[in-house]
Amino acid sequence: MASEPASPFPLGFAISTPRLRIHPFDPDSTAHCEFLVQLWNTDDFINSSGHTGIDTPEKAAAFIRRRVLADYARNRHGQFLVSLVEANQAPRLIGCASLMKGGPSDPHYYLAPDVGYTILPEESGKGYATEAAKGMLDYARLELGIDSVFGFCAAGNLRSRRVLEKLGMEYRGVAALSVFGGEESAVYTLPSMAQDLAVYNLTETICK
Ligand SMILES: CC(C)(COP(=O)(O)OP(=O)(O)OC[C@H]1O[C@@H](n2cnc3c(N)ncnc32)[C@H](O)[C@@H]1OP(=O)(O)O)[C@@H](O)C(=O)NCCC(=O)NCCS
Repeated sequence: MASEPASPFPLGFAISTPRLRIHPFDPDSTAHCEFLVQLWNTDDFINSSGHTGIDTPEKAAAFIRRRVLADYARNRHGQFLVSLVEANQAPRLIGCASLMKGGPSDPHYYLAPDVGYTILPEESGKGYATEAAKGMLDYARLELGIDSVFGFCAAGNLRSRRVLEKLGMEYRGVAALSVFGGEESAVYTLPSMAQDLAVYNLTETICK
């Protein structure tokens, strides 16, 4: 079996926000694997992002080993868990937040990562996605020196679009993004980013 890439994060690494703790996945954690299965199989998630096929803890562990750990090793970012920290209680898993970027050998390699988020339906509407995504953007800027970040979501996903707006991101229009198999997506950027998105290798036509 191929060996796992070494984690770039020190033991106990977490990004802290006022109410949340954003921390790496561990494929050996049953709790992490079971939670990913739960989160990615809610109607809310499937309606927005489709079926991932990750429907058992074993498949989740394999996915984390193969994809998530590789992203961490390559970029020092990727898919993270989001836990809610409440007084006198153990932190509780409520979602995921991500900063994703393909590798140079991927067919669609944008030069800026995109920010993403999923929150359990029973915990939505409390500002957690916005807070977690802000934590990711702050981590990217302050710890990794990344100033350019995209926000992509299905044009009809109004909740997700609202999150991107609350983060201060700017709407640039809709494009059939090859990274999502040509599906139409709303494209947002941080306000400081260039108007010509081709500088980030995003060459798809943007329609306002
Ligand atoms: C989208 C999602 C992450 C939002 O999580 P959340 O924790 O509820 O988000 P927040 O509470 O930070 O913000 C949600 C905002 O959307 C608003 N909203 C909710 N339903 C809405 C709708 N139908 N139209 C417009 N805005 C809506 C909320 O009022 C809130 O804005 P406000 O603070 O100005 O009132 C969550 O619903 C989810 O996980 N959905 C499934 C996965 C998904 O779509 N992920 C994004 C893929 S790009």
